[in-house]
Amino acid sequence: MPRVHILPAGTDLLADPDENLLKLLRRHQVPIRYSCKSGECGSCKCALEQGQVRLKAYDPRALPPQQKEAGIILACRAVLTEDITIRLTDSDDLIAHPERKLLCRVVALEPLTQEIFALQLHIEFADMGGIPFTFSAGQYAQLVVDVDGQEIARDFSMASTPVEAEYDDLLTFHIRRTPTGALSGLLGSVIRPGAQMLVRGPMGTSYFRPRHTGPLYAVGGGTGLAPMLSVVQTALDNGKLEPVVLFAGFRNQADVYGLEQMEQMRRNFRNFRYHLVLDEAQAGDPPQAVHGSLAGQLLAVVGDFTGAKVYLAGPPGMVEALSDTLLQHGLAENDLHADAFYPPVRTEQGASA
Ligand code: FES
Repeated sequence: MPRVHILPAGTDLLADPDENLLKLLRRHQVPIRYSCKSGECGSCKCALEQGQVRLKAYDPRALPPQQKEAGIILACRAVLTEDITIRLTDSDDLIAHPERKLLCRVVALEPLTQEIFALQLHIEFADMGGIPFTFSAGQYAQLVVDVDGQEIARDFSMASTPVEAEYDDLLTFHIRRTPTGALSGLLGSVIRPGAQMLVRGPMGTSYFRPRHTGPLYAVGGGTGLAPMLSVVQTALDNGKLEPVVLFAGFRNQADVYGLEQMEQMRRNFRNFRYHLVLDEAQAGDPPQAVHGSLAGQLLAVVGDFTGAKVYLAGPPGMVEALSDTLLQHGLAENDLHADAFYPPVRTEQGASA
């Protein structure tokens, strides 16, 4: 059985022969950043310090040749064939919340726009003896419904804060309803107030780092705003004194939501600002809207990212392009926290937002 020695913790894990490294780490609840699970996003990088792994096919943009030569591997594509030693990056900030199973009831389903809904769940039963569910702002969970004996599961980020889960047993998700969405298409029918749902999580490593003392920039595209609202609200509630700036990007005015919450945060916290960015200009746009790309607006407003952390969430194309741009503009990889949500066709288990 291959043995995996994990630095800097010094932990040893025993793997099944030919087991996937990411699966092994998740099985033992080792906190590691990951998203697509298919070699496309590069978020599961770790340093291979000893031994060899067999890497399955991946997108070279996720792991450029020079990084591979330097000993970096993608945990989601690494097959374990012998004893290895790996070093997890970003380990100073890693926070581990155990993955839980929660039985929840839908308490509210409110339209935020014509297509986007706020789904609020009350946790009725939690595993691990019912201890409160904990997560870090910015993480996501898997929502599961049973339709005629068939399980439908998709990943969505928590828009609510960890405090609301821990003290009020409440979780809120923002879900765009699409006619072909396996789970989102059930909003209003199977998923309606009173219905039961299973929640598994939390997952994801693009979460708020409370020990960081520089400016915080949160960038959300579409329903990627959900985890960014959670990150920003948590940072402000935690008493963060440095600038906290939220960039909310939408296609056009029909997609805009969250303005009231952002306005309220602006009124309550002097160090908070937000920018509303729309791709398309239309008559009747909110007066505070600027038009163009999220990347363009972010660079125009911030310019220098020294000492800052940037949190990103949204469609994969946006997250990948913006991540590249930010790294080119000098943001350190450890200060970029992004979980892209890949559509189910490109993943093993499916994800959405
Ligand atoms: S490349 Fe491994 S999780 Fe995306």
